Amino acid sequence: MSHASWLRQGRIVDGRLNPAWVGDLLIVGDRIQAVGPACEAEAAKLAHVTTVDCSGKVIAPGFIDVHTHDDAAVLDKPDMLPKLSQGVTTVIVGNCGISLLPLVTDAPAAPLSLLGKSQFRFPRLADYMAAVDAMVPGVNVAALVGHTALRMRHMTNLDAPASPAEIAAMAADLADAMQTGALGLSSGVFYREAFAADQAELTALASVAARAGGVYATHIRDELAGILDAMQEAALTARQGGLPLVLSHHKCAGPANWGRTRETLPLIDQLARHQAIAMDVYPYTAGSTVLRDDLVDGVIDILITRSEPYPEMGGRYLADIAKEWGVPQQDACKRLMPGGACYFQMREDDVERVIAHPLSMIGSDGLPHDERPHPRLWGAFPKVLACYWREKGVLQLEQAIHKMTGLSARNFHLPGRGVLKPGNWADVVVFDPDLVSDTATFEKPQQRSCGIEQVWVNGVLSYSGAEGLRAQRGGRFLRRGVDAI
Ligand code: ZN
Ligand code: CU
Repeated sequence: MSHASWLRQGRIVDGRLNPAWVGDLLIVGDRIQAVGPACEAEAAKLAHVTTVDCSGKVIAPGFIDVHTHDDAAVLDKPDMLPKLSQGVTTVIVGNCGISLLPLVTDAPAAPLSLLGKSQFRFPRLADYMAAVDAMVPGVNVAALVGHTALRMRHMTNLDAPASPAEIAAMAADLADAMQTGALGLSSGVFYREAFAADQAELTALASVAARAGGVYATHIRDELAGILDAMQEAALTARQGGLPLVLSHHKCAGPANWGRTRETLPLIDQLARHQAIAMDVYPYTAGSTVLRDDLVDGVIDILITRSEPYPEMGGRYLADIAKEWGVPQQDACKRLMPGGACYFQMREDDVERVIAHPLSMIGSDGLPHDERPHPRLWGAFPKVLACYWREKGVLQLEQAIHKMTGLSARNFHLPGRGVLKPGNWADVVVFDPDLVSDTATFEKPQQRSCGIEQVWVNGVLSYSGAEGLRAQRGGRFLRRGVDAI
């Protein structure tokens, strides 16, 4: 007999921008059975139903984290506490050109090493999908295929554009993954390992994803001075490939570019008139990625999150380490590599403008394998609610939720998710609108958020604010466009 929960008298924010209203929601098994007045009659038909008093609370679709690097984390640390404790019920993995498949290795090089080292054992998406479904992680998992991973599998010289034979080999792997249910192609031409890719290579692969109805998500070549050209390149790839574009973690990085979202967002509006385009954003002025000496400008603060040769330097600022060693910051950076860092490279007004833009979705870009991760891993979603809805009023509640749910499910072709309506999958979060907030900081980054009261994943109560993780997990692998109702 399937389990039922009757969520009573909450403020329902349905994920579609409809104004919030007070009502009930009934979960039966893994689906939403009813929303609103119909719940009463439906609940009366059931032998057993757990009643949850939601008065004063918000009932929303479970959040979809559209930008993650949780590819291996869902297998290594399947409880997924950093995400469930934010109300996240689905993670999209494979961003920035970085994915586990199709590589099989014990020693992944940067940037793939962002995913840890233990799970590079899936030549095909079908193998990864089977591993996820066997594990039943705490959250649902949907996957992009990484262009850099394809390159590392099929190319010997990463500093050149792919040859026609190499493109064909990458395209075959990508087509296979798309057939299995990948959401699309991701690229990270910002990273050296993919920087040499030319328009022909990118367009050829984008069209493979397009034929299966996928999207193209990209960490563009340059988020600093050359950002407009880099955005145009991404837009051209998507137009030539014939598929929707998602600009990853949209930002204007580096002090010389602060304020330039006044140029980049109008460019996105202009492009949106002719092609499908969206972006994701995280609510912080610091970015985080692998340690790179070319990002060391002597101006911005850089916090070391991880260093293989000097693990004890995690949590310290590069400037302090350089002073201690009596060397320039760039040299200190080189000594600390390989590793990871947080780069305080953005300005608050730019972050606000991107978050406020109607085409932006929330994605954490959290790095689960860092010793001291950027706090976005544990705090991105509650921070948007606390800071940009409740405190600053940059967004209305319905808009904030839409950017975490309905818009995300639509852009990535996840039918049956992201919206509270009868028949949809029961991915649901209940939170306290007065209390919800992030607690993870750069000093103490691994902290559960407050105010997230209950989280259901496919109808399984997986997290409660009072007790933390529940015994049961409910996550599944989600295939593009499948599972529609
Ligand atoms: Zn990225
Ligand atoms: Cu990323």
